[in-house]
Amino acid sequence: MKLWSGRFGKDTDALVNDFNASIQFDQRLYKEDITGSLAHAKMLGDCGIISKEDVAAITEGLLGILADIEAGKVEFTADNEDIHMNVEALLTARIGDAGKRLHTARSRNDQVALDFRMYVREQIPVIVGQLLELETVLCRQAKQYQTAVMPGYTHLQRAQPISFAQHLMAYANMFSRDVTRLEDCAKRLNECPLGSGALAGTTYPIDRWETAKDLGFDAPMSNSLDGVSDRDYALELMSALSILMMHLSRFSEEVILWCSWEFKFIELDDGYATGSSIMPQKKNPDVAELVRGKTGRVYGDLMSLLTAMKGLPLAYNKDMQEDKEPVFDAIDTVEMCLPVFAAMLDTMTVRTDNMRKAAGKGFINATDCADYLTKKGMPFRDAYTVTGHLVAACTQQGKTLEELTLDELKAVSQLFDEDVYEAINLENCMALRKSYGGPAVAETTRQIEAIEDFVAARK
Ligand code: ARG
Repeated sequence: MKLWSGRFGKDTDALVNDFNASIQFDQRLYKEDITGSLAHAKMLGDCGIISKEDVAAITEGLLGILADIEAGKVEFTADNEDIHMNVEALLTARIGDAGKRLHTARSRNDQVALDFRMYVREQIPVIVGQLLELETVLCRQAKQYQTAVMPGYTHLQRAQPISFAQHLMAYANMFSRDVTRLEDCAKRLNECPLGSGALAGTTYPIDRWETAKDLGFDAPMSNSLDGVSDRDYALELMSALSILMMHLSRFSEEVILWCSWEFKFIELDDGYATGSSIMPQKKNPDVAELVRGKTGRVYGDLMSLLTAMKGLPLAYNKDMQEDKEPVFDAIDTVEMCLPVFAAMLDTMTVRTDNMRKAAGKGFINATDCADYLTKKGMPFRDAYTVTGHLVAACTQQGKTLEELTLDELKAVSQLFDEDVYEAINLENCMALRKSYGGPAVAETTRQIEAIEDFVAARK
């Protein structure tokens, strides 16, 4: 029999019963639900709305249910629709009338808003911790490759010399922003919806500040309609997770490229690669490909909730029950991707020899050649044109810039001298890029230290 059978002339149709239920997925919120109920009951007692004896019975009953759920002794049922009504039914079965008093001055609307918000709040530090681990791996790897010259690319064309350390630190900076985005989300979501009631508050003399404080919130939410209707925190979380996955996906794409025979800049550990069922020679970067693939799924999670929310009038609508699965899926996906991705990077072998070889071809010192002439007095635009002619000549003759003789260089500009070979030496080209943020060792050292400080400040 349903809670609401008093007003109804017949039972819920079996089809509707299953269709309406969310217990299959919202049972994940059992701990938050019980924590919220404990705080609500305590407040009801403190405000004289229910007796202290009832509070004691409710508290004991709820703690017993929590222990039994964690011991796997509780079976939930779709007949009680969701986690909130399942817990309430269990409680009432165990302690009788006191259990029926728990829901005084509360609605499932503020209850679910509270539980879900607390769940999101708890998962943020988990994901932040995983991001910090990943950043630590990147710093450790980067320290070993500060002088490893590799081509930096634009348009996937070799462009200018960088170090592998600088490339890794680019990602570390993205992951730091992901951390601060999540921290922002945690800060903003930390207001308590409990006490909003169904939508219009309550006539009972409740103390919303007490429950807010007991549950670790900075304050109660200011407006009861907003309290039950707001899902911004879930959307903010999924936006942050979508951006995070976009970063992981770009990184994955590079790992996949770097593992190819065309690049061979890295080799993955055998434990982090897979073989083919037919081609004996294959070693595939499945982990990186799956992370890239799962990015689409997290974007989908974000879009599904944005779309579910877009036309909803205030306040609660049942559509909002659709908020949970995408959020759970996005959280699960990210929490699965981050550790395996970090471990893959931690165990990879870096082929600095192949990076250096690739850097040697593709004229990535052409800018430095033009800069050499500019420093000798030629306007940069002219130096750029002269160097362009040299590159064209080299391409025809199958040579690199540093293989041209001084006579050949002087034929296009008298400003060339012996010291040009120093200026276009790739190691020098990289070492001299000392501008703030550049690939010179002093700069990558500063970048690595900045990331290490960022991580340390959060440990
Ligand atoms: N299971 C519901 C949800 O997830 C709880 C709130 C139900 N409220 C209601 N008025 N039907 O949103």
